[in-house]
Amino acid sequence: MEQVTIGMIGAGFIGKEHARSVRLMKPFFGQKVKLVGVADKDEKEAARLAQEFEFEYHTTDVARVLNDDKINTIFICVPTVAHIDILEAAAKQGKAVFCEKPLAVDYATAKKMGEIVAKYNIPCQVGFVLRFTPVYHVLRNILQERARESKLMTVLLRDDQLIPVKGNVHFTPWRSDVTQAGAGVLLEHGIHDVDIFEWFFGPIKNVRAERRNFAGFKGIEDYIQCDLTFESGMKGTMIHIWHDIEARHTIRHFEIFFQQAFIQLEGYGTEGITIRDSRASHYLSHEDIYSMCKEIKFYPELSHRIDVVPLGDYYAIQAYAFLKALLEGMPPSPSIEDGIRAHKVVAASYYSADHDGALVDISSFV
Ligand SMILES: NC(=O)c1ccc[n+]([C@@H]2O[C@H](COP(=O)([O-])OP(=O)(O)OC[C@H]3O[C@@H](n4cnc5c(N)ncnc54)[C@H](O)[C@@H]3O)[C@@H](O)[C@H]2O)c1
Repeated sequence: MEQVTIGMIGAGFIGKEHARSVRLMKPFFGQKVKLVGVADKDEKEAARLAQEFEFEYHTTDVARVLNDDKINTIFICVPTVAHIDILEAAAKQGKAVFCEKPLAVDYATAKKMGEIVAKYNIPCQVGFVLRFTPVYHVLRNILQERARESKLMTVLLRDDQLIPVKGNVHFTPWRSDVTQAGAGVLLEHGIHDVDIFEWFFGPIKNVRAERRNFAGFKGIEDYIQCDLTFESGMKGTMIHIWHDIEARHTIRHFEIFFQQAFIQLEGYGTEGITIRDSRASHYLSHEDIYSMCKEIKFYPELSHRIDVVPLGDYYAIQAYAFLKALLEGMPPSPSIEDGIRAHKVVAASYYSADHDGALVDISSFV
């Protein structure tokens, strides 16, 4: 692609993040990247986004953006149920797509989206933004190094978040409606962790899960525990919680046990990593992690941007990677297949939860 000309569908929370990120990264690409049109059914939201990030126009007519010949790339940033129709319309016109996660309200629809992408052979990236978190790249490197010295035993993840259907932080009533969101905390939020777990530790072999619904929104679980076995034999546990604690917005807490080392990380990027082993307890500070990003050559061309890597601005790094892939004609990553794979593990977890915690084998799950 000679130039990436962008149409944004959806100007809510994540639409704004993508517009901000593209604008922030635009200097790397100059005139090769252009924000053209934004559509949202809420005119005020569309107008605000267009003005703030200098799109050429805004509209409430989604088809206007999808059919605009000046636009070759569509960002899908609307509630989950609406992703597939927008993807299909964009794909039919050969436009590249950035589709937010989860791809769809269920695994079957996610697979259909994969067929559409394959049929029209379009570049497509899925919004697994955690794959662009600097501290996770450093952690992954540490895990690989430690695994050469000591056997991995288990990973424990506690991921908790203020339920995103109320409050003033992220008030999105559609997340309480199963027809629009598909399900609750695992599909909407934990799917990031399913992807990250396989990126860190390899494929998941089987899962047992249990879910609860404290807030009472039908079909929207706000607690789920998944007990996992990886193909490698390693065990793992993920607990995802949507609570109602205003003073606690969102936290991911990892504890990873090797036979001879323990690694702990809390947060998304501006916090450090604690490592305890037979020698000592080490704390890798924020500054240490930034210099380790340089050592592992994490986007070296971005390392001078103190507003991006040290701040852990994963949305900006994600935008940079997507734009670069399109302009260089490389397949964007994470791909639609990565999105479908995570949907499969999520669907298997729900199946287990609905069948008294039955052990579900991922490879034979359909
Ligand atoms: N990757 C991430 O970190 C991340 C974070 C948040 C949300 N998401 C995903 O992004 C998607 C959107 O979430 P959000 O938090 O931005 O929601 P949001 O409610 O903040 O924004 C959605 C916007 O879409 C508009 N809209 C709804 N239906 C539409 C339609 N059919 N046509 C045009 N506009 C429509 C709404 O008016 C709203 O402005 C969801 O799939 C969500 O799961 C991903």
